[in-house]
Amino acid sequence: MQEIHPVGGIVDEGRLIADTLLVKQYLDRAVQPDAPSARERAEYRGAIMDLLERRNAMIVAHYYVDADLQELAEESGGFVGDSLEMARFGRDCAADVLIVAGVRFMGETAKILSPDKIVLMPTLEATCSLDVACPVDEFSRFCDAHPDHAVVVYANTSAAVKARADWVVTSSIAVDVVDHLAAEGRPVLWAPDRHLGAYIERVTGAEMLLWDAACIVHEEFKARGLQDLIQVYPDAAVLAHPESPYGVLELADFVGSTTQIIKAAKEFPNRRFIVATDQGIFRKLQMEAPAKEFIVAPTAGNGAECRSCASCPWMGLNSLPDMLESLKNGSNEVLVDKQLSRQAMVPLRRMLDFAANSRS
Ligand code: 13P
Ligand code: SF4
Repeated sequence: MQEIHPVGGIVDEGRLIADTLLVKQYLDRAVQPDAPSARERAEYRGAIMDLLERRNAMIVAHYYVDADLQELAEESGGFVGDSLEMARFGRDCAADVLIVAGVRFMGETAKILSPDKIVLMPTLEATCSLDVACPVDEFSRFCDAHPDHAVVVYANTSAAVKARADWVVTSSIAVDVVDHLAAEGRPVLWAPDRHLGAYIERVTGAEMLLWDAACIVHEEFKARGLQDLIQVYPDAAVLAHPESPYGVLELADFVGSTTQIIKAAKEFPNRRFIVATDQGIFRKLQMEAPAKEFIVAPTAGNGAECRSCASCPWMGLNSLPDMLESLKNGSNEVLVDKQLSRQAMVPLRRMLDFAANSRS
């Protein structure tokens, strides 16, 4: 067990503390931007629209970023979606410049898949606790120790970790890919999210070795509080992202990626839903199912004690002024080492080809 690399686990206390501190250092830097006034918002939006046109640029945004950025992406012909769809859109669109509103791995994936496009981000500080807690050297040692395993990594990793993998997957396609490998009788080495890994293992019955990291946002959803909320709203269906802990997933009526959660909200007959994922998704949920009510699942702590409050601090770093700055000056360009990029392209392309064949 000593090769498992914990962020919140119990395997190796020294490493646990080191990783937790590392994530904390990044979190301390993630000071949330001030909300602009209505007048500033209109000015930023106008200036960004103008630059998007002049530079033949497209916004590719995740559901978790600020509603202003999601709106702007949609109004300007760009895209808002889950991480698999973002990768696909970035690769397929005809823009010269992509401006990715999300976290670092999303910008890197866009660059790897579109090496000839300029890829910008409003900020390069937007990381992810899963990426931070999976350093490539330790991960490579883990892989080297298990050469018989197919190496499957979550998209929420660095380009270097992807370059070491046989497959990259996102939450919308992870179960299908591992099912496919299990049918071939291949054991799987999975990194980095332990909750998603354990979920895939339960659903597919595959033989899996799990890295031990977690999403600081989803890990905060609590089964106890959720049970209480279900008592208050017995008619509500629970929709959960698979990065949530086991107890929360056990109580869920539906588990899936962000786009799959939105689809479920539209299709389920329920009028009310408890949602265990980042609150940024509520904008799209409300748009797609306006007659329905959405309640955020309970997290650890309340008010000032609330830790993540179902809101990713790194997604929250994306702002209108930083997007404008980046488009104006070409700042925050995402660059990926060419050789690493070529290597990481292989498992990424495998995922996209698999998705195209299975229409995920
Ligand atoms: P999705 O692929 O479901 O959008 O998830 C990305 C992510 O970072 C969730 O925390
Ligand atoms: Fe990473 Fe979690 Fe933020 Fe998603 S919500 S980007 S998994 S820290």
